[in-house]
Amino acid sequence: MLNISRVRTVLADHYDLEPSQDCAEALESTYARMSRVVTPPDWITFAPYVRAINALKQERNAVILGHNYMTPEIFHGVSDFVGDSLQLAMKASEVEAQVIVQAGVHFMAETSKILSPEKTVLMPDMDAGCSLAESITADGIEEMRAKYPGAPVVTYVNTTAEVKAASDICCTSSNALQIVNAMESDTVIMTPDQYLAQNIANQTHKKVVYWPGSCIVHEQYTAKDLREFREWNPGTELIAHPECPPDVVAEADFSGSTSGILKYVTDRKPEKALLITECSMASNIADQLPEVEFVGPCNMCPYMKKISLEKILWVLHSGENEVFVDPSVAEKARQSVQAMIDLSRKLGL
Ligand code: 13P
Ligand code: SF4
Repeated sequence: MLNISRVRTVLADHYDLEPSQDCAEALESTYARMSRVVTPPDWITFAPYVRAINALKQERNAVILGHNYMTPEIFHGVSDFVGDSLQLAMKASEVEAQVIVQAGVHFMAETSKILSPEKTVLMPDMDAGCSLAESITADGIEEMRAKYPGAPVVTYVNTTAEVKAASDICCTSSNALQIVNAMESDTVIMTPDQYLAQNIANQTHKKVVYWPGSCIVHEQYTAKDLREFREWNPGTELIAHPECPPDVVAEADFSGSTSGILKYVTDRKPEKALLITECSMASNIADQLPEVEFVGPCNMCPYMKKISLEKILWVLHSGENEVFVDPSVAEKARQSVQAMIDLSRKLGL
């Protein structure tokens, strides 16, 4: 557990982190990417951290992989690569830097380590977990195999390395349908997200059986919420992540992974859009899409929100919170993740 007062004292001894108008102005072009969603007083506070992190990244030969659910100052201020789970996994297998800081949740850092075992992977907060990853162990995979003998196991990347190692292939929300369709068997086991599995089942001829896990962010939305919103704010495009329950997805105008959402909104440029997903998604794309008004409620992921500029600076400074995966587990997990990446590349995803 991070001792935040010790962290603050040490960081203050090494870096100039006082709120600074001069620093904020010097980083004006960075701020321009988030000025619709980050207020000037907040930027004056963030800018010294952004400056310190970007300088330290060079010294340490480090890159920051930022998920689409990071807050805008992390997403636009310090991330070298941003994207959805698939894009970040692909990037982790390619980066040249010696150190990867995972601005996301723990399973993403494990995936980076699995794909780049020779690199140092740092997690700004080890407690940044995921309700889906917590919902299943390798025993759960064996339980499903015993129930459906011969059926391949397609496991969402939102899982631990042990679970990936016990599976046949991984998937993310942007390639799940294609991966399921590519399986030879007529029955496919999907773990651990019951809603992603049900949403895929609605689009494929395969029989999809699933584990009863769920995302605490997306499971909160209801179809009634969406209908009421449409009535209250007509003309808004409703765009849902496939971790939402199927009746929510059915009520939406479009469903896709976080990168799918970005592409849809960028291509269509609706006048008003409600993103039925984690709150930072809309914030991170608001400045690049000034013609779109992002409206309505969103849900925050308490795990993603554990990541802050301060914690990123700390792990870069101290080298603490290195992520390790047992090499024998990593080897098997790599096969599942690599099989997904190879298939995705082959399909041009
Ligand atoms: P994607 O970015 O792959 O859509 O996943 C969403 C998510 O919940 C990651 O935690
Ligand atoms: Fe896990 Fe849901 Fe948070 Fe993503 S948004 S990290 S799936 S709890």
